[in-house]
Formats: sequence, C-alpha cells, structure tokens
Amino acid sequence: LPRKAKATGHELPSPALASAGKGKATKSVTLHLPQPHPRQFDLLSSFEPGVRFVVGACGTKFGKTYGCSIWLVEQAWTNKNSFNWWVAPSYAQSKIAYDLVLALLPQGTFVEYKADLRIQLIQPDGSLHSRIEFKSADDPSKLRGYAVNAFVLDEAAIMQEAAFVSVMTTVTQTRGIGLIISTPKGRGWFFDVYNRGEKFEDDGVTPRFDEKHKDPFPEWMAIRMPTWTNPHVQLDAVREAKNNLPEDVFRQEFAAQFLDDTAGVFRGVSNCLDVTQSTFSNPQPGHRYSVGVDLARLRDYSVITVIDRQTKRLVYMERFNQISWEVQYHRIIRVARQYPGTLTIDSTGIGDPIVQTIQNSGVTVTPYKIGGSASKQQLIEKLRVGIESRQISFPRNRDTLILVNELKVYQYSFTDSGIIKYEAPSGKHDDCVISLALAYMGADSPDWSYRSWNQRSI
Ligand SMILES: Nc1ncnc2c1ncn2[C@@H]1O[C@H](COP(=O)(O)OP(=O)(O)O)[C@@H](O)[C@H]1O
Ligand SMILES: [Mg+2]
Repeated sequence: LPRKAKATGHELPSPALASAGKGKATKSVTLHLPQPHPRQFDLLSSFEPGVRFVVGACGTKFGKTYGCSIWLVEQAWTNKNSFNWWVAPSYAQSKIAYDLVLALLPQGTFVEYKADLRIQLIQPDGSLHSRIEFKSADDPSKLRGYAVNAFVLDEAAIMQEAAFVSVMTTVTQTRGIGLIISTPKGRGWFFDVYNRGEKFEDDGVTPRFDEKHKDPFPEWMAIRMPTWTNPHVQLDAVREAKNNLPEDVFRQEFAAQFLDDTAGVFRGVSNCLDVTQSTFSNPQPGHRYSVGVDLARLRDYSVITVIDRQTKRLVYMERFNQISWEVQYHRIIRVARQYPGTLTIDSTGIGDPIVQTIQNSGVTVTPYKIGGSASKQQLIEKLRVGIESRQISFPRNRDTLILVNELKVYQYSFTDSGIIKYEAPSGKHDDCVISLALAYMGADSPDWSYRSWNQRSI
C-alpha cells in the first residue's frame, strides 16, 4: 500500500460477516488505509529488499505517529500470526497510537483489550490472525523476552537507549523489522542509530560507502524530513514558530537537525559570565535594583536574586533551603531593604497574606503567577533574549556557577497540543533560573516604588 502511494485493499474475511453467513465466510473485508503524504510515502518505502530498520528523523507534526500507524496496521493485516509492537516513551503516548490504529481497522475484524492496549486481528472462525500491542518504554526491562515481527519506536530520541536495545532483542530470532522514528534531541543514541542508516555524506549526494569501504549496516536506512513537508500542516504555523522560537529550537524541532548540544533554551550563557569579577557588589548610592524571589516549595531552594536596574548586572544572590516561612520572610525583607527598588515574587501557590506581610514591611511587591504556561513562557523568553543579547552579566563565583549550570541544562518540550513548555530536566532544580527571570522581568518594568518614594519625599 504505501509503495503505491494510494489506498488499496487487503482481503481478510471478517468474523462478523462470517457468523452472519452461518460459519461460511463468503465475503471479504477490504482494509482502506488513509493515503500517506508524499514524504511519509518516502519514509515507508525505505524498506527496500534487505532493509530491516528504517530510522526517521522528522520534525514535529511531520506525521510520524500517523504515518507509522498506517504502516503497523498494514504489517498486522498482511502477516498472519505476526506480533506487532508500538513502543512510545509513555503510556499516554502509546494510547494515542492505540486510538489511531483502532480507527483504521474495519469493524468486526478485531478484538480490543483496552485495559492493556492490545488488539487482536481475528479470522472469520474467531481464531487469531495477528496481534498489535502498545507499550511504554519507561521500563526497558519489560520490553525483553518476546518474539516480535514488526515494531514502531515512536519519539525514540527521548527514550533511554536501554529501551531501544531491549526492543532490538525481540526481532533477532524472527528477523523482524522496525521503524525507529523521532524528532532529534541533540546527539544521543538516536543520532548514532540514525547514522547507521545514513548512506551519504553531509552534502547529501556523495555516497559514504563503495566496494572498498563496505557499509557496516546494510540492513539500516535513514531519512530526515522537516515539518513543512507535511502538506497537512499550515505553513503559517511553521512561520510563526520560526519567528517566535529560539533559533536552535526551531532547527531541531521543525528542521529536524541534529544539533551538537541538545538545544537548550538559553544560548550564550557563558558570555554573560564576567570572569574578572568574583564578588557581588554592595548597593550603590543612587542605584535602583530589581529583586526576584522564588520561594522554596517542598524540596526546593529559595533563591533571591538582585539585578541593578540600570546596568542589568547581577549584584547579589542568595540560595538556601530553609523552608520555614519565618526564615524566608526575614531574608527577603533584609535583601529588599538593602537593595531598594522593586521586588517580583513567584506567587504561584502562595497566599495573598504572604505577599501582604512582605508589603507591610514597606517593600513594594509585584506578585507574578507563573503557574500558567503562557506566563511562564513570557518570563523565560524575556530572560532568554536578555542572555542571548548579553544584556545581563554575572560575576563568577560559587553561587553564580550554580545559576549558570541551571541555565545551561534548562530545557523545553512540546505538549501534545504543540505548546512549548519550559522546565528543568527531571531531578534538576530551576529555582535560580526562575528567580533570575523574575528579577530581570522586574528590572524592565516601571519602578513604581521609586515614584511613590519620590513623591513622598517631595
Ligand atoms: N497522511 C496524512 N493524511 C492526513 N493527515 C495527516 C497525514 N499525516 C499526518 N497528518 C496530520 O498531521 C498532523 C501531525 O501528525 P502526527 O502524526 O501527529 O505528527 P508527529 O507524530 O510527527 O508529531 C496530524 O493532525 C495528522 O492528522
Ligand atoms: Mg507523534
């Protein structure tokens, strides 16, 4: 079917029709699959004779999940007694594919086991035709010990390499085949596996192998496709992404490029480090400051960051994991009084009384709720621009090195609805990042406290 780039039918007598005919299967059911778009067709037709593994590095919304679901259904439909696997990074992502596959199958040709995301294609007499199972890659040890004929590894780059290794063991005996597909994420194991299938040099035309230099991976084929080759994606949406996203993010997520580094959110962090300075600066007469505060929640740190409003230089920072409210409160007020100006605090999950208490001590507080993804995006984007354009600078010391590390590993992901989401990698902190972002945002907003202070003194 994909080879001809058009929907065709395969004949498999349906059990429902068979029972209507009192045990005699007289009619056959035709499987109508959606037409792959031209680049999906290229991907699926990479299974030339001798090729067992096709690696696809494709932009977000290229149609990876959609295209591979067509392919896996075809495998299960045409190969009697076959065992077919869909492996996704999480259960929730597997469920999306499960629903897609179910929608492709004609009524009466299958039995579904929704609770464990299994589908059995059945013969008219009720006997098993083939199986499709949907797995999560989060526990790679559970992916061993089976004999699989065809698999899809969807969004492979965010899986552990162990998941890939486990799945590969399931096709050794069967000489099974697999589609390993993902948006690139830096140059991890997925990049290595992609390279097994890449038969050309970077120019795209010079063959890497010849009679003298034999291809060490003849069973592998690779293909790379940007998002905009999917005709079902609006080009306007791609243009908008190009205008709004960090350049590296766009290159990785939409152009499907393998970047040296996982595209971080903040580029050029080291350029902001002033290696000639190791100490913080005392408050200067006449200078106004912006204090950013991220309060400790359960296991985190509280971080107070102070930026000079004029020079955008980080002049002070404090990081502590005393989560008693009393301690946090006193430290915040002390710093805010020392460095007069504005104070911006992440007020997500903290009550108005807390903001009020700080306010009552004479410090002007701007609460900023970063719970919502839009407000967080705004906050982080602003800091990103500040760092990329080298507006911000920090001295180099123990505290700022923690900050620099948090900035360097800070990452983004996309939600299923395509919205960008910023966060620290799992197990890492982002308190310094948030505190700095709040201080930076505050430094760019009007200095209300200065005005009222000025008016009072007149
Ligand atoms: N061959 C196709 N025909 C119609 N729509 C398609 C096709 N391929 C992809 N799409 C649509 O394109 C969008 C992105 O597809 P999806 O498979 O979710 O992308 P990816 O997994 O690469 O992020 C979806 O809305 C999907 O329905
Ligand atoms: Mg997908």
